[in-house]
Amino acid sequence: MSTMTKSISENTEATTFARFQSEFAEAVSGALQKAYGESSAVALEAELLSFEHVVSQIERPKKSEFGDLAFPLFPYVKLVKKAPKAVFDDIKSGMELSAEVGEVTFAGGYLNIKLSSHGVAQALAKEVLSAPQRFGQSTIGAGKRVLVEFSSPNIAKPFGIGHLRTTVIGASLNRIFGFLGYDTTSINYLGDWGTQFGKMIVAYQKWDGENALKENAIKGALALYVRFHKEEETDPSLSEAARLAFKKLEDGDAEMVKLWEMFKDVSWAEFKRVYDILGIDFDLITGESFLNDKMDSAIARLEAAGLTSESRGALVVDLEEFNLPPCLLRKQDGATLYATRDIAGLMYRWETYHFQESLYVVGSAQADHFKQVFKVIELLEDAEKTAPDERMTGKVKHIPFGWVKFEDQALKTRAGHVIYLDDVLQKAIALAEEKIREKNSELPELEKVANRIGVGAIVFSQLSVRKQKDVNFTWEGALSFEGETGPYLQYTHARLSSLLRKYGRELPDVASLDFGVLEDSVTHQLVVTLSRFPSVVELAAKEYEPFLISSYLLELTSLFNSFYQRRDDDGRIVKILSDDVALTDALMAVVSMTKTTIASGLDLLGVEAPEEM
Ligand code: ARG
Repeated sequence: MSTMTKSISENTEATTFARFQSEFAEAVSGALQKAYGESSAVALEAELLSFEHVVSQIERPKKSEFGDLAFPLFPYVKLVKKAPKAVFDDIKSGMELSAEVGEVTFAGGYLNIKLSSHGVAQALAKEVLSAPQRFGQSTIGAGKRVLVEFSSPNIAKPFGIGHLRTTVIGASLNRIFGFLGYDTTSINYLGDWGTQFGKMIVAYQKWDGENALKENAIKGALALYVRFHKEEETDPSLSEAARLAFKKLEDGDAEMVKLWEMFKDVSWAEFKRVYDILGIDFDLITGESFLNDKMDSAIARLEAAGLTSESRGALVVDLEEFNLPPCLLRKQDGATLYATRDIAGLMYRWETYHFQESLYVVGSAQADHFKQVFKVIELLEDAEKTAPDERMTGKVKHIPFGWVKFEDQALKTRAGHVIYLDDVLQKAIALAEEKIREKNSELPELEKVANRIGVGAIVFSQLSVRKQKDVNFTWEGALSFEGETGPYLQYTHARLSSLLRKYGRELPDVASLDFGVLEDSVTHQLVVTLSRFPSVVELAAKEYEPFLISSYLLELTSLFNSFYQRRDDDGRIVKILSDDVALTDALMAVVSMTKTTIASGLDLLGVEAPEEM
């Protein structure tokens, strides 16, 4: 008896794509056992015939003409010493596969399957249309806690374009993990401690800070900071004054603490405005200063484990053996450092959350810093003989990303050239509004839509390249309504919505939809690609790579455009809405599933999908 009917109709947990894939693997594995199960040549490698092995070897064919799934025959060719086509024939003749799953072909040393369009469409419609919001959602992360630390701008400094990518990538990862059922905690680790506050305070006191900050606190603070660095070059006493001021702050001097808190408040007000525009919220906002009272015990633990040593009066963990610079814990004057706080922070987060994973979404420039910090933790766990499941080593990860080159300008905070995130977002919104007015000046809620398009353009521009690559930001490149942009995806979503409005009725029951009428190759590609969405989301989480979703959405959209302009045998465009009710219903079901998928994908990236634009 064939087992296929069982898994397709009864296994409602798995997604459509996974079910078809396992159906295929089951048929292949069954056929392999029939053909080669008795062969002595195979006896030693019997696991090559197993379902688990077969399913793990399935790939996407190099060319879509070959089919939708491909299984490499090469290992069996070697084993049974037959030609690839002969092996293919052996397997094919033993495969029990209903036509509802697909058709098997031989190409390029692979056994390929072209899935049945209507089989996939029918199963997919069942999966998607009954609960559109849930398409792609899963519970694979249930009971697992993931901390996602991102954004983390520095107090009394501008919230500039330099923090855009961490903000956008981190927010997206947090959403992706949440969508997969993980118990996520998003953390904003504000840079609110460190020697730079000594400098800020000295500058503020020396050059009438109250006045400087009156109009625009952040810009005023930046001017003070820049002036400090400039004058410090010729007046070394300033450095000493700053060091002393920070020391006083560390010792809790009331005057210093008051100034520091003022810097924190004005900064947060500015940051919050930007987060509101981006629609980002944090579960936890905790600055470096939160760790002030936790560093002594962290250092004591490292000392007790015998990991620390003195180097020119400073306390360090030597990491030469690992080709890393020493990790500085305490300076000669007793001041602690960025790394000290991260180490104490790790200990605290581990004790508090016992996470499955803890991610630090921070630019690649800090790769060495995280290598040092994680190495120190690893050495500590080794020294303390921590039980394997009590170790955080392996669970803490730096998620690095490349630079943003903003219309090719280098970004130098110190020289005072800053591109403020707020300005960038406002400009994007204004440009989007201009474009919409040209196209559709009657649009209801035009300003609200412009907001979404402008913000969407900026967010998408950061996620449309692999995170390790640099982003070359240009205004035209980000805001164009065509090409690989956020607005283009949003525009497609709005077009789909408008098509559904024109259709003007509810889709019939999934069971009564007839997808048999949709066998053309364009629809086939679109339907199979739609079914892949859940696995794309899973892979994006596994690789910490929102780009996988953005590129998937672009591929999907381009397939949709071909679908929208399908031609009949005489070369005429086939209208989606026609008098043929059964055909129209089937096509509109595909339209509706595409709209759902684009909206979910965009949502995972942090981009809103308008119904109209
Ligand atoms: N505030 C830092 C910066 O702007 C980023 C913090 C990264 N996170 C961490 N745990 N060290 O460069």
